[in-house]
Amino acid sequence: MKIINSISGMRKLALKWKQEGLSVALVPTMGFFHEGHLSLMKAAGSKADHVVVSLFVNPAQFGSNEDLNHYPRDLEHDAKLAEDKGVSCLFCPDAKDIYPPGFQTWVRVEGVSQRLCGTSRPEHFRGVATIVAKLLIIVQPDMAIFGQKDFQQLQVIRRMVSDLNIPVNIIAHPIVREPDGLAMSSRNTYLDAQERESALSLVQAIRLAEKMVALGNRSGPEVIQAIRNHIQSFGNTKIDYVFIGDPESLKPCREIVDETLLALAVWVGKTRLIDNTLLKQ
Ligand code: PAF
Repeated sequence: MKIINSISGMRKLALKWKQEGLSVALVPTMGFFHEGHLSLMKAAGSKADHVVVSLFVNPAQFGSNEDLNHYPRDLEHDAKLAEDKGVSCLFCPDAKDIYPPGFQTWVRVEGVSQRLCGTSRPEHFRGVATIVAKLLIIVQPDMAIFGQKDFQQLQVIRRMVSDLNIPVNIIAHPIVREPDGLAMSSRNTYLDAQERESALSLVQAIRLAEKMVALGNRSGPEVIQAIRNHIQSFGNTKIDYVFIGDPESLKPCREIVDETLLALAVWVGKTRLIDNTLLKQ
């Protein structure tokens, strides 16, 4: 596996593969790999001749009061895991090359960026859309794979790719969970034992909602209230949002129809966790 730091080196390799007629899948990450990342790499490997994993802790998507400086990092371990998964190239650019002095061009996706996580993290999706656009321009992959845990991120990227006519196939990969149901996230490492218990309130609330819908309840407000009650019964939890609405526009709705998005963001101690599901009738 090649580890490439320079943008020009990445471009050169991607161009060589293109000239050889080989397909490329990009897996954008911020590193500190867990099973969720590894399953993205595996899926990418089953679809393309070469997998490029980008590893870049993107400062532009962290708010000034967020965890950029504490975000977990372990390049050596990540490189080994990626190599074991058959990844062809780990692309680890420097922040000073991605955002050089004088940088002033941002990609802002309106509408879908503004609700849910966009309310409490106003610049987050501008940072995500900008780095993903840059990665797509540098690597020019045939496809890029994103986890469905960050459902809103996926919709923002789909919108951007469609609006800007970027020739790439965006593939969604299902949420990967711990055996007890907690959605995998690099931020789970922040949780102490008691917070880890409280973190289960998210997946339990999702299961509760799925059960209510399976039993015929179609009322968004009633399901939201039941979820709030459940999560608030745990210590150390503070709800950021419980959202029920359309999975594409991310506009809220009162009536649950087939494939309605349920998305949650909850603070557990100092860690903000997200989870979601598509409710089915
Ligand atoms: O999901 C992530 O890890 C990041 O938001 C991404 C897509 C790699 C952009 O920095």
